[in-house]
Amino acid sequence: MTEYADTINAGGLLLMGCGKMGSAMLRGWLDAGVHVDAVTVIEPHPSEWVLSLEAEGLKLNPSQPKKPKVCVLAVKPQMMGDAAPALASFGHGGTVFVSIAAGTTLATLEASLGADTPIIRCMPNTPAAVGRGITALFGNSVASGADMDLAEDLLASIGKTVRLNDEGQMDAVTAVSGSGPAYIFYLIEVLAEAGEAEGLPAELALVLAKATVAGAGHLAEESEHTPAELRTHVTSPGGTTAAALTVLMDAKAGLHPPLKEAVARAAARARELGKT
Ligand SMILES: NC(=O)c1ccc[n+]([C@@H]2O[C@H](COP(=O)([O-])OP(=O)(O)OC[C@H]3O[C@@H](n4cnc5c(N)ncnc54)[C@H](OP(=O)(O)O)[C@@H]3O)[C@@H](O)[C@H]2O)c1
Repeated sequence: MTEYADTINAGGLLLMGCGKMGSAMLRGWLDAGVHVDAVTVIEPHPSEWVLSLEAEGLKLNPSQPKKPKVCVLAVKPQMMGDAAPALASFGHGGTVFVSIAAGTTLATLEASLGADTPIIRCMPNTPAAVGRGITALFGNSVASGADMDLAEDLLASIGKTVRLNDEGQMDAVTAVSGSGPAYIFYLIEVLAEAGEAEGLPAELALVLAKATVAGAGHLAEESEHTPAELRTHVTSPGGTTAAALTVLMDAKAGLHPPLKEAVARAAARARELGKT
């Protein structure tokens, strides 16, 4: 049992929104030793799994939830306007709020919950579903070191965590790691299609592309070498990889300009959405 599980078991946790992300986190918390009866879930359409947890003691959609130690907000950003005010009575201290809603700023959350409420804004990504996500965190001025540690422990249940120095970095994080899995899924699609064009059966090309991206990602994370060094290691002069990289690393027609532009546009869109 982890230390944060003790804190939750003693003080309770309320999860608002138990869809894809909420369920992935809940699974991780229960695995880490959080007791099912320490958790309250507010969710209009609970899954079969959540209903089965209710039978084990999880509190589902109670009319008057008890003030918990932590509230985790995992509803879609467009639902936050309805969802956050419903928890306003838990604001003003005593309960730490953790929000994973993309684009919902601390100022917006403070407007519903009170500026004296400890709130930590987080940006996870979809590999969370397999425990391989990465989440960036930033807390408001009243979130203490202990509140940040607790939020970080809760998010560590779905992968790695990093802390930001300022909330403004959240838009760039959204553009790199938040939206990033979609860029990589597209890379897999294109790599498989290219393999097919070279004569491989579609299914085999897809197996090769998926395993290559997963393996290279894992190696890049685990290796003591930088990605640039790892690339150099597999590139013999005049060989096959060098032939491919001549195309991919072309300063004008290569991967660099469109990827940089894609990230810039995603960050600009995140900034725009944060203002609405
Ligand atoms: N998925 C990602 O890659 C990703 C990455 C980073 C951040 N996020 C953030 O994570 C949050 C959750 O995303 P998700 O993919 O898990 O979405 P999701 O699967 O749609 O889950 C959200 C859940 O919240 C429920 N809900 C709606 N209104 C509610 C309310 N007033 N009170 C309680 N529950 C309510 C929804 O029910 P209904 O289906 O009935 O509406 C749904 O089950 C979003 O804010 C998103 O920005 C997601």
